[in-house]
Amino acid sequence: MKGAGKLLRFVPIPQPTLLVGAGSSGRLGQAVAGFGHTKLLIVTDAVISKLGLLKDLTDALTAGGASFVVFDEITPDAPIPLIEKGIDFYREHDCDAIVAVGGGSSMDASKAIAVSIANPRKKLRGLAGYFKGLNAAIPIYAIPTTAGTGSEVTVAAVIADPERHSKLVIVDPRMVPKMAALDPALCTGLPAPITAATGIDALTHAVEAFIGNWATPHTDGLALSAVGLIFENLRTACKQGTDLQAREKMLLASTYAGMAFTRANVGYVHAIAHQFGGRYHTPHGLANAIVLPHVLRFSLPNVSERLAQLAVRARLGTDDEREDVLAQKFIDGVVALERDIGIPTHLDALKEADIPALAKAALFEAHTGYPVPRYLTQRGCEDLIRLVLPARPTKPAPATPTAEATTPAKAKTPRKRKPRATQAQPE
Ligand SMILES: NC(=O)c1ccc[n+]([C@@H]2O[C@H](COP(=O)([O-])OP(=O)(O)OC[C@H]3O[C@@H](n4cnc5c(N)ncnc54)[C@H](O)[C@@H]3O)[C@@H](O)[C@H]2O)c1
Ligand SMILES: [Fe+2]
Repeated sequence: MKGAGKLLRFVPIPQPTLLVGAGSSGRLGQAVAGFGHTKLLIVTDAVISKLGLLKDLTDALTAGGASFVVFDEITPDAPIPLIEKGIDFYREHDCDAIVAVGGGSSMDASKAIAVSIANPRKKLRGLAGYFKGLNAAIPIYAIPTTAGTGSEVTVAAVIADPERHSKLVIVDPRMVPKMAALDPALCTGLPAPITAATGIDALTHAVEAFIGNWATPHTDGLALSAVGLIFENLRTACKQGTDLQAREKMLLASTYAGMAFTRANVGYVHAIAHQFGGRYHTPHGLANAIVLPHVLRFSLPNVSERLAQLAVRARLGTDDEREDVLAQKFIDGVVALERDIGIPTHLDALKEADIPALAKAALFEAHTGYPVPRYLTQRGCEDLIRLVLPARPTKPAPATPTAEATTPAKAKTPRKRKPRATQAQPE
C-alpha cells in the first residue's frame, strides 16, 4: 500500500483551473454552462442550500441554459448509505457531471459518487485504497465553502463506514475536479468554531507535508505559503468572519496546503484524527487540532530544522535565531494560535479503554501509508493519545466527615471540564 502511495510522488496529478475572488462561484457556473453537459448534479448539504450559497452558481447555470438538479442531503463525513443515495439520485436524473458545493464532506461525497458511477461493478468499500477504479471518474467541478480540506485539488475522498466505525479513503488522481472556484463571499457566514477547526486542518496539511519524508521543493513552497497565510489570517477569519480578504487568503492557503499534501502526504496527526472521527464523530479539523501540538513535540528531534523554517515563515522568529529556539517557537506558536481561536486541548469523548485500539488503527494507517519523519511505537502512540484524555476528576477537597462526603459515589463524581469550544458536531 505504501508502494502505491509512493507512486503519487511521481504520477502526474491534474490541477483544476482555479477561479479566485468574490463572485467566482457565479463565474464557475458561467463556464460550466458552456461545457455542453446534459444535466449537472449539484451535491451539497442542507445548510449551504438554506443559506442561499448556491444562488450565484444556479443563476449562472440557468442564464447559460444548463440543466441541473440539486442533491442537498450530505452530512458531515458522508456515510456510505448516503453516498449510495446520491448515486441513485444521479442515475435517476441521467446526469453526466457533478458540481460539488460545500466543505470536504460535500466535495468528498461528490468524488465518491463520481468514481462509483464510472465503476458500477465495484462497491464503495471496494473502491477504497489507491487506484481501485478501472475507469476515470465522471467530471467534477468544485466550490469549497470551508478553508479547509483542500479537497478541491486533492486526489483523495474520505468517507465514513458507519458499520465499521471507521473512515475509508479513496485515492485516484482522476477524481481531481476540473475547475474550482475559491469564492470568499460564500465563507462569510461560516461559524467561528468551524472556521477555526477547518483552518487548523489546512495548517496540519501544510505542516505534515513539510515535515514528512516525501516533501519536495515544489511541495515545500506550497506548504510554506500556506503556513504564512494561515498565521496571518486565521485569527481575523475567526473574529471577523465577514473580512473578505482574510477569507480569500484562507481559501488560498487551504488550496496550497491541499496541493502540497496530495503529493507529500500527511502523517500521525491525520492517522490519529481519522480514528477519532471514525469512533467519536469528532469533526476532522478539530480532531487534528487537538493532536497537532503533541505530534509536533514528539517529532521535534527529527524535524527541528524544518520547524525552524516554518517559524520564520509564520513570523514567529527571524532566521538569525538558533534552530532549536525557532523550532520551539513554532510549536508554541501553534499552541497560541489554537488557544486564541478557541480550540480545546482535550477530547471530551475519548475513553481510556478505547486507546489501545485507536493507537493500533492509527499506526496501521500511518505505517502503511504515510512518510512519517519519526517512528511511533504502539506504546508511544497510546501515551500520546492519553495526553488528550479529558481532564481527570479532581480530588474532592478534604471536608468535615459528614455522611455525604464519605459517600463514594458522590465523592467520585467527575467535575465536568469546561471546554473552550464546543465539541459537538457542527450543524
Ligand atoms: N479529500 C481530502 O483531501 C480531505 C482532506 C481533509 C479532510 N477531508 C474530509 O473532509 C471532511 C470535513 O470537511 P470540512 O471540515 O470542510 O467540513 P464539512 O464539509 O463536514 O462541513 C462542516 C459543517 O460546516 C457547514 N458549512 C460548510 N460551509 C459552510 C459555510 N460557508 N457557511 C456555513 N456553514 C458551512 C456544513 O454545513 C457542515 O455542517 C471530513 O470527512 C474529512 O475527513 C478530506
Ligand atoms: Fe485533513
